[in-house]
Amino acid sequence: MARAVSSVQNETTQHDLDIADLLAANIGDDRDPYTTYHAARAQAPVQRVNHLGADVVMVYSYEHASVVLREQERFSARINGRWMRPLLGRTILEMDEREHFVHRRLIGHAFRPSIVGKWEDGLIRPTVAMLLDRMAEAGHAEMVREFTWQMPVRVFASILGVPSVDYARWQQWAIDLERAAIDRPRGKKASDEVRRYFEDVVATRRQAPSDDLVSDLVAAEIEGERLPDDVLHGFLRLLVPAGAATTYRLMGNLLLALLSDPSQLEAVRADRSLVGEAVEEALRWEAPVQFAVREALSDTELGGVEIPAGSAVTACLGAANRDPARFPDPDTYDVHRTDKQHLTHMAFGDGVHRCLGEHLARLEATVAFNAILDRFSSLELDPSDMDPHVLGYAFRSPNAVPIRFKAA
Ligand code: HEM
Repeated sequence: MARAVSSVQNETTQHDLDIADLLAANIGDDRDPYTTYHAARAQAPVQRVNHLGADVVMVYSYEHASVVLREQERFSARINGRWMRPLLGRTILEMDEREHFVHRRLIGHAFRPSIVGKWEDGLIRPTVAMLLDRMAEAGHAEMVREFTWQMPVRVFASILGVPSVDYARWQQWAIDLERAAIDRPRGKKASDEVRRYFEDVVATRRQAPSDDLVSDLVAAEIEGERLPDDVLHGFLRLLVPAGAATTYRLMGNLLLALLSDPSQLEAVRADRSLVGEAVEEALRWEAPVQFAVREALSDTELGGVEIPAGSAVTACLGAANRDPARFPDPDTYDVHRTDKQHLTHMAFGDGVHRCLGEHLARLEATVAFNAILDRFSSLELDPSDMDPHVLGYAFRSPNAVPIRFKAA
């Protein structure tokens, strides 16, 4: 991985991020959707509602959300193809049963633990160090612009073998694909450009494999089966937003949760074994991705609600993660939860489509947070006028995390 390390170090700065562009992808500016979710869940855990302009069956309880995501013979993922395929092509997110199993095995091979482990030292640590170096002198920073958005998008671009000169373009594509639900033409343009970009990369790696994920995916073969070209390109395009934007949200939520409660921040600083707990609790407390959608394959029933075949059934992961029947005192961010129930959160989904990148996301957040604690001996929210808060309906992340610190 020597190539990736040096590209991180030589790479130029891009600070001129339009944060409004990025936040618009969250869809909605709700600070607290949870009060509504609690009220809805208490009334009926499964309900017919209008969600983003469509009639869906919305599922608010942990128990019923888990049924929707685990019982693929009743609830199909093919509905994801309706909006995703025109934008990204065919992806594993819309596949069911054997087709999903085969493709997931092929792709999962490229994310095996030995590979993810190599990324830790070769890519994640140097990227984190480089970004913290940049801000160390100033004594203050706005972490969304300068760190949480910058880090995972760069790590993922490097994982895919994107040279550092292309990072700025890559970041813009990630934002445009993220915002596709609200600006389809811009999303489609970005998607076409990513496809063209990867066509060249795939052709090159077929001829001369390198030490990167694209080479691995191109060569992946299990029992004589390889990834068909349309699925390979669908997957690569899915990874642009999936690999970067979700992890950036997790890191922002984590930072804001801990900085808003200095006693918990200092507890984690004093006992680093709590960093893992802090990451999991952040995933439970503010699920970066709030919804996962399925389609009822036949007439069925859930939580006393009759569901006709073909209905969209939406598991509200944010509501499931705050279900008091599963998590005591669910609205409190607490790194000291002793019952360990928080580890069963649904932020990465559930069942066969459970997130393929969860280990990478956890690793990035853990490495980054440990490095921040190592580098900054005192760390606090800057009392600026930025009014930092988590917001969004479909996705959740902070508008800003302004900090003041002393370098260690
Ligand atoms: C905190 C970070 C992340 C969160 C919260 C997250 C969330 C999710 C969720 C909720 C699903 C399930 C969707 C469904 O069931 O419909 C999912 C699937 C997926 N995620 Fe992530 N994700 C994160 C990071 C990543 C990363 C870093 C990658 C890239 C390696 C990734 C790649 C994927 C893929 C490929 C799937 C589809 C899996 C399948 O269909 O079998 N995710 N993610």
